[in-house]
Amino acid sequence: MRTVSGIQPTGNLHLGNYLGAIKNWVRMQDEGESLFFLADLHAITVHNEPKALSANTREMAAALIAAGVDPEKAILFNQARVSGHAELAWMLICNTPMGWLDRMTQFKEKSGKHKQRSSLGLYGYPVLQAADVLIYQATHVPVGEDQKQHLELARDIAQKFNSDFGAKNDDGGDDVFTLPEAYITGTATRVMSLRDGAAKMSKSDPSEMSRINMTDDDDTIAQKIRKARTDPEALPATLDELEGRAEARNLVNIYAATADMEAQAVLDQFTGKGFGDFKPALADLLVETLRPIREEFVRLKSDPTATDAILTKGAQRAEALGRPTVDAAYNALGLLR
Ligand code: TRP
Repeated sequence: MRTVSGIQPTGNLHLGNYLGAIKNWVRMQDEGESLFFLADLHAITVHNEPKALSANTREMAAALIAAGVDPEKAILFNQARVSGHAELAWMLICNTPMGWLDRMTQFKEKSGKHKQRSSLGLYGYPVLQAADVLIYQATHVPVGEDQKQHLELARDIAQKFNSDFGAKNDDGGDDVFTLPEAYITGTATRVMSLRDGAAKMSKSDPSEMSRINMTDDDDTIAQKIRKARTDPEALPATLDELEGRAEARNLVNIYAATADMEAQAVLDQFTGKGFGDFKPALADLLVETLRPIREEFVRLKSDPTATDAILTKGAQRAEALGRPTVDAAYNALGLLR
């Protein structure tokens, strides 16, 4: 089992990033060989300030390491440092029918009304993503709902390339690519705003009280939970009864994801209790969980050379794993090297 996953570097990381994405990687690294990367080449499909991009790439890497991604267990790197991603992406782009990309829903969402002004890279985004996993012969790719279509496309691209060129390569007709499977990570936690249970927790929400930042200190975390919007009801016995109580549901979900519990198990523990009891328990849990992560995160942020050294070393290992596949693709296409 070889799992490959990427994440776009963003700054101002918060609890939503931690529980929604970062924490999954910490779990995955124990379940097989893992390659994790910062998708900086994907980030440039839309405009990104160069300085902010470098800073965000380091910041996201620091958060991942602080949260427990272990560079000894998982191979952690940024995409731009492994040139094979871009090389393979070009070879795949030339072998992907435009019609397949026209079906991608994310391009429609991201380009919106400005299709003509969107970059060619944004349109080809899913092909780079296919290259990201095919280059390492990934057997598994973790996918949330929004990425299912991209994985399907990666499989289609791999299959087409294998059948068009696999039999013609010099080594006697082996497949060039492994078809990756979806790796179901359980229900990904969608962390919602602490002020509005219908909005996602977001770095761009104007209200600081809507989110818990990875850099918030103990008191700030406790205060934000204390002031989080809720309702006057007690916690019910079943999840169904949380229907229509988005803020209550969100706090239960946050508790569950932080404590690695099922949401139902949280209710079992707090049924009949009001938020006067539940909020302090949640605040304690978050403060204790986030403190060591924050301390390491802040330390790593102040020492970018340490983070860079980890990323550079990860890139060397990734390069070694990916290069044979890139070479095989050049060869299959008849490109002289
Ligand atoms: N597009 C993914 C996202 O926005 C990030 C990503 C890039 C990725 N390449 C990948 C995820 C390869 C999994 C595998 O979340």
